[in-house]
Amino acid sequence: MAKSAGINRRTFIKNASLTAFAGATGGIATGSAAASAASSSKMANGKYDFDTIYDRVDHNTSRWDSPPKSYPEGTFKYGMGVASMDFECAPCITEAIAERNKHHSWGYMSSTESLRDQVVKWNGERHGVDLPNEAITISDGVYAGMIAAMRSLVGSGGRVLINTPAYNGFYTMNRNARTLTVDSPLVKVNGRYEIDWEDLEAKMTPDVRAMIVCNPQNPTGNVWKEDELLRIGRLCLEHDIVVLSDEIHADFVRPGHKYTPFASLPDQAVVNNSLSFNAISKTFNLAGMKNAYFYSKNPRLKARVDEYHFAELSTLGVVANEAAYKGGADWFAQCLTYIDGSHDMVENYIKQHMPTVGYTRNEGTFMTFLDFSKTMESIGASQQYKSHGKQSPEHYLQDWLVHNSGVYLNPGSNYGTGGAGHMRMNVASSRYVLKDVFDAMASAVNKV
Ligand SMILES: Cc1ncc(COP(=O)(O)O)c(C=O)c1O
Repeated sequence: MAKSAGINRRTFIKNASLTAFAGATGGIATGSAAASAASSSKMANGKYDFDTIYDRVDHNTSRWDSPPKSYPEGTFKYGMGVASMDFECAPCITEAIAERNKHHSWGYMSSTESLRDQVVKWNGERHGVDLPNEAITISDGVYAGMIAAMRSLVGSGGRVLINTPAYNGFYTMNRNARTLTVDSPLVKVNGRYEIDWEDLEAKMTPDVRAMIVCNPQNPTGNVWKEDELLRIGRLCLEHDIVVLSDEIHADFVRPGHKYTPFASLPDQAVVNNSLSFNAISKTFNLAGMKNAYFYSKNPRLKARVDEYHFAELSTLGVVANEAAYKGGADWFAQCLTYIDGSHDMVENYIKQHMPTVGYTRNEGTFMTFLDFSKTMESIGASQQYKSHGKQSPEHYLQDWLVHNSGVYLNPGSNYGTGGAGHMRMNVASSRYVLKDVFDAMASAVNKV
């Protein structure tokens, strides 16, 4: 672990309470196996190992190496914010990179056609979207594609409608595109985040030219149903608003829920009024490899975005992504099962040991959105934040949690209207890490 990070990671591995979650998770490796395994390479029984803590510290990792810069030595211990997974990547990716690395020449690459073929195959076989190869533009990130769409379809001063709480990057993209945002807050009904249809339609004013749909939704964990997407799509059509559907979390859907690609909706006019933005960078933890794509069934709409889009791709990024599409399905199936169990574990832990923290059951994604409003009230976050130079009461809580438990979460206020009182947490870590993180947070939160 980084010298600047609070704990010695190896000590923490050794000391982790290795069996505490076994009941909740349906069985995890024994402590010694987990602590001594060196790699998540496929084991003899065909299982990948997601329990072994894969140390990402000191590898220029945003999740683990950025937060300690803001805290005194030893204060920060656990990076549970940024949406990247703590698992070692699928071996097929490492192997493909090693193979390409045998050829020591890194000039401009020739084409992304075979990568587009894999995008077509993945979306067709897994998600039932029928995509012609030419409907796809390879991008160096969802950001790049969406910014191009905002510049082209919304234009400076135009507005983009967003259901909130929503991924904070949407605000960044809009700032970059010089477009403005309008929040339509989701409402909690029977423990699920639901769309407030009346509010949504009221916000569809003539200056709103696009709506971002985030499916599955970061940070609430919602997986939107077909009828919800259709209703959004029809309202947008009626109000002359283009749908920008960000589906980067598409593959992370929990049992009992189904991801519906916007482009597969049973209304051609709705589909033709949309662009979809996707990547397998969440699926296979390849965000640093800078690879994503967007597509539309409407060639004219896509051509307008293409005019504003320029991707700077890297050879290794293409190699890694292609390898993941071709050979990573089994690794990901196991990863998804592991994350599903981790969501259960988090839910059980909070219900049993952190009664003041509110939990909303995730339908998808590997981020969870926890309600810390009672803790915030107890520590006087609303009264304290300004005098402590913090941007919001949630930023004050973020700081308080680091100082009192070593755990770094993302403040809910980053996610627009409706994020108040909440913190976003990443659960894609070894359950040994999750166990320590929750023990540390429970002991801090239960004291106040
Ligand atoms: C909903 C959503 N969209 C986009 C991104 C960023 O995508 P990219 O890294 O491909 O630009 C993220 C990253 O967390 C995300 O959660």
